[in-house]
Amino acid sequence: MIAREFAAKLLDWQRQHGRHDLPWQVSDPYRIWLSEIMLQQTQVSSVLVYYTRFIEHFPDVAALAQASVDEVVTLWSGLGYYSRARNLHKAAIMVCDEFNGAFPESTEALIRLPGVGRSTAAAIAAFAFSRRNAILDGNVKRVLARVFGISGWPGEKKIENTMWQLAENLLPSAAEDMPGYTQGIMDLGATVCTRGKPACGRCPMRDDCIAHQNGRTGELPTARPKKAIPTRYATLIMAVHKGQILLERRPPTGIWGGLLSLPELGTAHNAEDWLGKAGDGDILPAWPEIEHVFTHFRLIITPLPLDLSALHPQTRDSNACWLPLHDAANAGVPAPVKRMLERLAATSGKLTSHL
Ligand code: ADE
Repeated sequence: MIAREFAAKLLDWQRQHGRHDLPWQVSDPYRIWLSEIMLQQTQVSSVLVYYTRFIEHFPDVAALAQASVDEVVTLWSGLGYYSRARNLHKAAIMVCDEFNGAFPESTEALIRLPGVGRSTAAAIAAFAFSRRNAILDGNVKRVLARVFGISGWPGEKKIENTMWQLAENLLPSAAEDMPGYTQGIMDLGATVCTRGKPACGRCPMRDDCIAHQNGRTGELPTARPKKAIPTRYATLIMAVHKGQILLERRPPTGIWGGLLSLPELGTAHNAEDWLGKAGDGDILPAWPEIEHVFTHFRLIITPLPLDLSALHPQTRDSNACWLPLHDAANAGVPAPVKRMLERLAATSGKLTSHL
């Protein structure tokens, strides 16, 4: 299929069947940038609530730049990939300090903002400034692999380069078509050319699609070569004192960087050592393990309840705080910790009652 046909069909389809009511379909580069960062590796349905809450707290880039990074990370909690929140804050400061609060308009300048890669920069530049640069996220890779019959894992450099080249060649010639075209290729990937069961009957590219013609939509795009991911282990301490639970802010880097969480028993320590630091208390039987899968490893969490009922809940550690059990789950903790805290709150803090 020639490039001109691809763009024309996509634009036509987007006008009739694409999404037109997403809250970030506005002309404000700040809102467009925020949505594109939130939508990295995250679906629209998960982003909507976070996006609205974020805009209420930080209506413009200056408000975001003035916030503390802890506030930003807390509002992000539950969305995952927390380096995005820290980069978001850094980028807001950069826009205010270096660009006088106005987002730069070129893809090349946008790429220099922390957390903004080539595809995200092109999306922001297309939506906000009608710039002619291609995007290439997971959805677009799937569409291109199928329509043009490209085999090979798209994460591989050679395949990715081929796709970038193709994606640039397919762009509409008129800059004014860039917002519709960019939204269209995203929408096609998200709503028609889906990973599981693509709705080829509704696809504007059906008659030209090589994967469809050859019955290969199930094989393309080629899956990532199987690689076993390592397993890591963590013991998280549920130290309870009279209806309050101890939370700690995690270090800024590493998993759940900057989030409030349950204290983690370091590898060199056992519960007695940890308690030695905290004072007297009862170590109760561990709860069953919880598995949480990150991109690069699997985490097995052992929840370890400690009853500190004899102690006065003091902490001199400025990274730690005591919170009422019923508030803790909503304090901006990571998703698996939130589930542990909800379970604990449901049993009114009875540390062994689930057994
Ligand atoms: N995924 C990434 N960016 C998007 C957008 N602007 N609209 C819908 N889905 C998206």
